Amino acid sequence: MTDEKASKSQLSPQTIAVTSGRPLGATDPLNTPIVMASNFRAGPEYARTHGTQTWMALEEAVGTLEGGACLSFSTGMAAASAILFALHPSVVVVPDVSYLGVRALLSDMQDHGHLKVVMVNIVDSARVAQVVTDAASEVGADKVLLWIETPSNPTLDEAELDVLCQMAASMRVRTVVDSTFASPIAQQPLKLGATIVMHSGTKFIGGHSDLMIGLTVTDDPAIHESLIRARTVQGATPGALEAFLALRGLRTLPLRYSASSVNAAVLAQHLSQHSAIEWVKNVGPMLSFIVSGGAVSADAVCAAVQLIVHATSLGGVETTMERRQKYLGDAHVNPGLIRMSVGIEDVQDIWSDLQSALGSAL
Ligand SMILES: Cc1ncc(COP(=O)(O)O)c(C=O)c1O
Repeated sequence: MTDEKASKSQLSPQTIAVTSGRPLGATDPLNTPIVMASNFRAGPEYARTHGTQTWMALEEAVGTLEGGACLSFSTGMAAASAILFALHPSVVVVPDVSYLGVRALLSDMQDHGHLKVVMVNIVDSARVAQVVTDAASEVGADKVLLWIETPSNPTLDEAELDVLCQMAASMRVRTVVDSTFASPIAQQPLKLGATIVMHSGTKFIGGHSDLMIGLTVTDDPAIHESLIRARTVQGATPGALEAFLALRGLRTLPLRYSASSVNAAVLAQHLSQHSAIEWVKNVGPMLSFIVSGGAVSADAVCAAVQLIVHATSLGGVETTMERRQKYLGDAHVNPGLIRMSVGIEDVQDIWSDLQSALGSAL
């Protein structure tokens, strides 16, 4: 880390989000421009191989927030693919309830004979430790990867991140933390001993449901180099506009994350007192709740909202919700479970909409 970067990482996240990733020359523009270029004069520089200023500005800001070196990718899934390519594990221990796309990727890789997947309940740290120990004695610790997603999609399970990272580190097992739901504001897994933290920047970092981007951050220089190598040979680079917009979104991430979290806590309180709600969980800006009456009732509630957007994805300024069990990859979650990403609208307006949807549908 350079001196400048080291001193920046002492600042609070709100300040880093606003000040990092800016050009510093006397006559430079305040924001790094959208560099639309595949190649550059007078050198071997090629965007896929060497990056661009726009990507690097975003990478500097996210890297400073997380405390490591960051690399940007075309999507969160591209970041996940690059991690698996770069670390080349034989066994991946993964939460049984977690983002369906990553589990689909792992399952395809297992079908192709590249690795073996072991599913585990990630909140049961003792069980995770046992499964990791067994895998390490079977294939060697350096060939095992513990993939943690916390809070998890869509049930908001919270792993004991410090316990798991330290357990894995003590065995020399590498850990990846998909920190998409927490964002770099709510947790910094590298500080707890994780090997790599990844984000779907499509969600809270971008924050406006208008782009796709993925990010990896690590404080291990050799692993960062192998991620650069993975991005170079796999070619999953971000778009220039997407990187610019993601950094623009990052500037307000602390404010958005906090406003959405306040709203989500209010909604969780209302939902917990509602007769049609069987279970509710709230972590930060995310809510998951189970509507009594199963899939039919939950679908009816989703169809009845008017202000809240019935849509997939999360992390935008607008409130979105959907029933998750309708997806094949989430067939094992409760049929009545609705996942809601709470936005920054007025919370009374959100609640009025949800309350009348619950009233009319049930
Ligand atoms: C936890 C989590 N990780 C990874 C991804 C994949 O990100 P992307 O859609 O940007 O490829 C998602 C997408 O929903 C997600 O929720």
